[in-house]
Amino acid sequence: MAQYDVVIIGGGPGGYNAAIRAGQLGLKAACVESRATLGGTCLNVGCMPSKALLHASELFDAANTEFATLGIDVKPKLNLPQMMKQKAESVAALTKGIEFLFKKNKADWVKGRGRIAGPGKVEVTAEDGSTQTLEARNIVIATGSEPAGLPGITVDNVRVLDSTGALSLPEVPKHLVVIGAGIIGLELGSVWRRLGAKVTVVEFLDRITPGMDAEVAKAFQRALTKQGMEFKLGTKVTGGTASKAGVSLTMEPVAGGAAETLEADYVLLAIGRRPYTEGLGLETVGVETDKRGFIPTDHWKTSAPGVWAIGDVTLGPMLAHKAEEEAVAAIESLAGKAGHVSYGLIPSVVYTSPEVAWVGKTEEELKAEGRAYKSGKFPFSANSRAKINHETEGFVKVLADAATDEILGAHLIGPQVSEMVGEYAVAMEFRAASEDVARTCHPHPTRSEALRQAAMGVEGWTMQA
Ligand code: FAD
Ligand code: NAI
Repeated sequence: MAQYDVVIIGGGPGGYNAAIRAGQLGLKAACVESRATLGGTCLNVGCMPSKALLHASELFDAANTEFATLGIDVKPKLNLPQMMKQKAESVAALTKGIEFLFKKNKADWVKGRGRIAGPGKVEVTAEDGSTQTLEARNIVIATGSEPAGLPGITVDNVRVLDSTGALSLPEVPKHLVVIGAGIIGLELGSVWRRLGAKVTVVEFLDRITPGMDAEVAKAFQRALTKQGMEFKLGTKVTGGTASKAGVSLTMEPVAGGAAETLEADYVLLAIGRRPYTEGLGLETVGVETDKRGFIPTDHWKTSAPGVWAIGDVTLGPMLAHKAEEEAVAAIESLAGKAGHVSYGLIPSVVYTSPEVAWVGKTEEELKAEGRAYKSGKFPFSANSRAKINHETEGFVKVLADAATDEILGAHLIGPQVSEMVGEYAVAMEFRAASEDVARTCHPHPTRSEALRQAAMGVEGWTMQA
């Protein structure tokens, strides 16, 4: 029986980072993954393929709608097979890269489905049905999540899609109905709208992207509506019938009222994800789950001795970088070091156009806590780089403690703000005051000046760029 210091089940951002960190610390580590490639949801059917399509479709859209303003007259023609091919090639290169990192850090990839078979034992069933048992001083569960279902809607990934299906459509939909105005719905809805689809988003709540600062979410919805995306908020889908040609969806207002039917050639169901623990053998060692199936942890330890859990399968935001942080912290903890994750400072990004990015508390959260705060805001329409680039939509908003000036939240909507939110994450990690950012010299002309100007706004001395 192969013996390991740590056996990790799942090879996504949680699992592969855990295996690599364990290797770096000199632990004998194995990562059990049943997919044909490492990288989990994120690399195979999540973050990376979605960003590949978002990038390509944004350029296609820009060529259609923005290039003429810059004096570039082109008429782009969509080559969808090539767009999908470059996506697949990038994904393949990334997943191969993880294999390389395993070898470099002496972590074993054990191919197959893992199941906890008792304390310190992980049974792995390979594709050919053969089994082997690994002996582990520690087991890390990193099995991730899967799309949540909706009663009355059957995902077939032909006409009714989950995110995986929506990343590989063979044609541009005429009418795509997205159920759920969350991150997946708006990112993938944006991809297909840019490529020519009519997109209608049906959302249960009376706002889009719950969790996002409400003022930003309003501006975001306005921007997406201007691009042609349609929203039906406060609406619940009650059923759907798929035929060869399309889907007929029935829905009604949440507040009550007349039901209606929407016809679509494709439907994307994106109403959240749920933890994936099927057949994992949690009961063999007594790992407790909550009523939604998540594995609660205390410093990444589950209720069973020697069993740890990280990533989407545990509580908290379902984000790759959160899984990665937990992976490093859990491995460092089980190696006797001091693992740490700043849960209040995990940035979120929506990779649409404009992008939305934030870190820390929203205004709604601060109000609910009864915390006194000041805010500073700066629009990209007053930022010289954004103006020159004709990318003036959006703003930066900074929230700081009224008494101490410590930055409590930063909310960005605008061009490429995904690349800018990290500045606030670092500042907040060091518990900076808004004045620290306001008095830090930023290069001109850059969009990053908007970060500084918003901080200057907290004390009311914003200058127009
Ligand atoms: P996963 O990545 O889900 O990995 C778990 C792995 O475990 C899987 O490969 C699975 O095959 C394997 N597994 C499960 N059970 C077993 C078993 N019993 N034996 C062996 N293997 C098993 N997050 C971001 O931060 N940024 C983004 O831009 C982003 N975009 C996304 C886009 C889409 C369309 C989706 C669906 C998700 C996106 N996410 C994004 C979320 C991100 O993918 C997840 O938060 C992240 O992958 C979680 O990592 P994980 O390691 O916990 O789980
Ligand atoms: P989500 O939680 O972001 O959004 C789901 C939306 O569906 C919510 O607005 C919710 O109110 C709505 N909803 C729920 N039930 C509904 C119903 N019955 N009818 C209509 N609407 C309903 O979930 P999503 O978009 O599926 O994404 C799952 C996870 O993947 C997210 O938690 C996110 O963290 C992660 N992800 C992250 C990305 C990023 O970081 N850029 C990109 C894509 C996914």
